[in-house]
Amino acid sequence: MFHLQKATQVTSADADREGPETLLALAEHYRYPPRPAAGPGAAAPFVRANMVSSIDGAATHDGKSGGLGGPGDKAVFRVLRGLADVVLVGAGTAATEGYRQPQPDDVFADLRKENGQAPAPALALVSRSLSVPPDYPPLSHPDTVVLTCASAPRDRRAALVDAGATLVDCGEDDVESSTLIATCGDRGWPRVLCEGGPSLLGSIIADDLLDEICLTTSPHLAGGHSGRIAVRAGDGDDSDEDAAALRAMTPAAIITDDDGFVFTRWLRHGRSSIH
Ligand SMILES: NC(=O)c1ccc[n+]([C@@H]2O[C@H](COP(=O)([O-])OP(=O)(O)OC[C@H]3O[C@@H](n4cnc5c(N)ncnc54)[C@H](OP(=O)(O)O)[C@@H]3O)[C@@H](O)[C@H]2O)c1
Repeated sequence: MFHLQKATQVTSADADREGPETLLALAEHYRYPPRPAAGPGAAAPFVRANMVSSIDGAATHDGKSGGLGGPGDKAVFRVLRGLADVVLVGAGTAATEGYRQPQPDDVFADLRKENGQAPAPALALVSRSLSVPPDYPPLSHPDTVVLTCASAPRDRRAALVDAGATLVDCGEDDVESSTLIATCGDRGWPRVLCEGGPSLLGSIIADDLLDEICLTTSPHLAGGHSGRIAVRAGDGDDSDEDAAALRAMTPAAIITDDDGFVFTRWLRHGRSSIH
């Protein structure tokens, strides 16, 4: 026996989508699950990802994810940042999408104060090659870290440190996802928001570290050659190893807006929803 349920519609045609009321209503829907006070899960950060795709699974349009977005998607993006302690992103995505340092958002100031959070989330850039331009503005900000590995090129490491960047090694030859996430916890950032890109998300999924994915489905078909929202390094063979990596998730919320965007929240199977 299965029951059909209607998706929640958060915005309406005459509502101000970027208005505080809509944003705070969305924040209720996207609250991080309460952290266990004790036990194995108490110290571990909660890892949420936020991604957008077309109906047919394209992660980009014209080389960027922004081409798939809309006003509702921007509102969800803003809300998720408003709730997070750190935005974790691949250095490539940060550069492609023109990321700036996350700024305090007045709408969420009270909520963050109540939760004992800093006014704005920190920024954690992930890079093995350290090919981030030293003059990339967020680098020298005290709330930005570059998560890399010990074997990263020495000259690039020196150039970034000279530019005022804080580098943290999360492995020897590779950036290990588990160390990446543990580092977020060590730095006092238990609410992790991973904004991709697909390679970073792919490694986090492969290491079974993803607790939740918030996926916006853009009401478009893209066709073309765009990649998916999560990819894994490898030869692309559909091997048994790929099949073993299938992770069960449970829907926690399905929200729509007037433009036809669908916003879904999927929790790791076995984690209870907050609703
Ligand atoms: N649809 C969406 O929601 C969405 C979200 C974000 C991005 N995108 C799009 O995705 C495209 C970029 O894809 P991508 O897969 O190249 O993005 P990515 O995951 O950000 O990877 C880019 C770079 O980040 C670093 N990185 C990622 N995973 C790493 C790991 N496990 N260890 C060490 N470094 C790691 C690497 O930097 P180094 O090369 O320096 O080592 C890598 O080259 C862009 O077109 C972007 O617009 C889409």
